Amino acid sequence: MKQIDDFALRDLTTIMSTASTSNPSHVLDVVMLPSLVEPESLAGKTVVVVDVLRATTTIIHALHNGAEQVLPQPSIEAAHSAHAAQTGPALLGGERGGRIVDGFHNGNSPVEYTPEVIGEKTLILATTNGTVAMERCRSAERVLIGAMVNLGALTNVLIDQPLVTVVCSGTDGWVTSEDVLYGGALMERLIETRTAAGKPVGKLTDTASIALNHWQNTKASVEAGGTLADVFRDARGGINLVKIGHDPDIVFASEIDKVPVVAELDLEKWSIRLI
Ligand code: MLT
Repeated sequence: MKQIDDFALRDLTTIMSTASTSNPSHVLDVVMLPSLVEPESLAGKTVVVVDVLRATTTIIHALHNGAEQVLPQPSIEAAHSAHAAQTGPALLGGERGGRIVDGFHNGNSPVEYTPEVIGEKTLILATTNGTVAMERCRSAERVLIGAMVNLGALTNVLIDQPLVTVVCSGTDGWVTSEDVLYGGALMERLIETRTAAGKPVGKLTDTASIALNHWQNTKASVEAGGTLADVFRDARGGINLVKIGHDPDIVFASEIDKVPVVAELDLEKWSIRLI
């Protein structure tokens, strides 16, 4: 018995020292708010920036419907300047408090950006959370745009990326469930696809595990009755949208794998295009 205890203790000590000193080559992380990102810590990492309700869902949909590029802006003033500098056809889009900004052509509803509206145009987009969150990601190796609507397509692009960090945009400085759920859903898909392909899954950080648990619990309760849109309606990002009559956007944003495209932010040109 004593021998077994000694062995178990030695074994556990080895595991613990390895865990505390090792620097795993593959890491999956979820950061729940942009303010929790230390920008320099993103160097060498592939970042997925997400604002399910609604900025990143809108970006994916606009590009899928033929937008030439999306130029994310940190402020309304910056958006006006970017628009003035455009030589080709361009639309100003975005929101404050969820509503279209005075003087802009469009708001931040994915459903507004039909092929007729956005086809072959540049979309200059200024939103309260999503396009601001992108500013924190400038030191990353790559920045990809995440949304429930392109979950599977993006998973395939990430399969061989060793260091993946999801940056949740949150709502007005608060953690919001729909972005964390996205982080968990992406973790689940990456674990499944990497395992099926015999590739290293990587170590999940504490926050990635929390996001994964949140997703798996939510998925189980949705499967037992209800919809993901119901969950989003109750989340911080959804409550205001329901109040101001944007329920169709919530339904749209909850449709997993609806849009099979992947978009990347060019960190030099600060332009988002399909890849
Ligand atoms: C944002 O980026 O701030 C959001 O998408 C907010 C919204 O659309 O209402």
